[in-house]
Amino acid sequence: MARLDNKVALITGAARGIGAESARIMAREGAAVALTDLDEEGVAQISAEIVKDGGKAISFAQDVVAENQWEAAFRRVREAFGPVSVLVNNAGIAPSGAHVEELDFEDWRHVLSVDLDSVFLGCKYGVRAMKQSGGSIINVSSIMGIVGNPGSGSYNAAKGGVRLLTKVVALECAQSGYAIRVNSVHPGYIRTPMVIDGVESIAELQGEQTPEEVLDQITQRHPIGRMGQASEIANAILFLASDEASFVTGTELVVDGGYTAL
Ligand SMILES: NC(=O)c1ccc[n+]([C@@H]2O[C@H](COP(=O)([O-])OP(=O)(O)OC[C@H]3O[C@@H](n4cnc5c(N)ncnc54)[C@H](O)[C@@H]3O)[C@@H](O)[C@H]2O)c1
Repeated sequence: MARLDNKVALITGAARGIGAESARIMAREGAAVALTDLDEEGVAQISAEIVKDGGKAISFAQDVVAENQWEAAFRRVREAFGPVSVLVNNAGIAPSGAHVEELDFEDWRHVLSVDLDSVFLGCKYGVRAMKQSGGSIINVSSIMGIVGNPGSGSYNAAKGGVRLLTKVVALECAQSGYAIRVNSVHPGYIRTPMVIDGVESIAELQGEQTPEEVLDQITQRHPIGRMGQASEIANAILFLASDEASFVTGTELVVDGGYTAL
């Protein structure tokens, strides 16, 4: 038996980074996976790799902030593989780096929308889709949902919101008698395009440090002495998706090389 045999997973933001790695690892563990993203070509490519390796995968475009696309997404996955039993609300964007006193209201709203509204919508339609047969919802928050960071006001607010929304949805499912577990994952800095592109723009904005120097500084904030890999977050998501986590709900799983312990 593989760890996710008979599970059907919908993973958002799966064209690259943590989402893509989660889809690969979950498929390897027996789940049928549906990969969605704004980047339709990107998810099609990862999905094709998974199928080539013997896994079950489909992909399609989804904008996680478009409410009218969520029902259709669950329907599409159900038609391909049966009812969704795992939802990974992973899609997200990084903040611009501006301090609150300079932060444009539109920028604030954009980050809140992609990083928090999307998780609300995923939970809303996820609970509706899973309440008959049960499942696991995994919301990808961040260490930035636990501790603050100058220049990340919108992102901190969104990820902190994801942390508490997760607990509320977990409690509501328990109270309603639905067999749905709901948890958040809180990665430290992970080597993905989000961080690498972000570091390049910070270095360019400040003009004082090279991208390598910025990366060094970020690395030093992790007591374990390095940044994380996407697979290390995907493995935490895999655990929460599996029946090994059958008594785990409403929790926050921090995977950060000790960042928030300091
Ligand atoms: N990389 C890190 O250090 C880190 C740390 C903590 C939390 N996270 C969180 O993990 C998640 C994945 O991050 P990543 O590092 O893999 O990022 P990434 O930028 O590499 O990938 C994010 C994916 O989300 C997609 N996306 C963005 N907006 C979307 C939308 N409106 N609809 C659908 N898809 C959309 C992008 O196209 C991209 O493929 C995010 O929620 C991020 O905030 C990342």
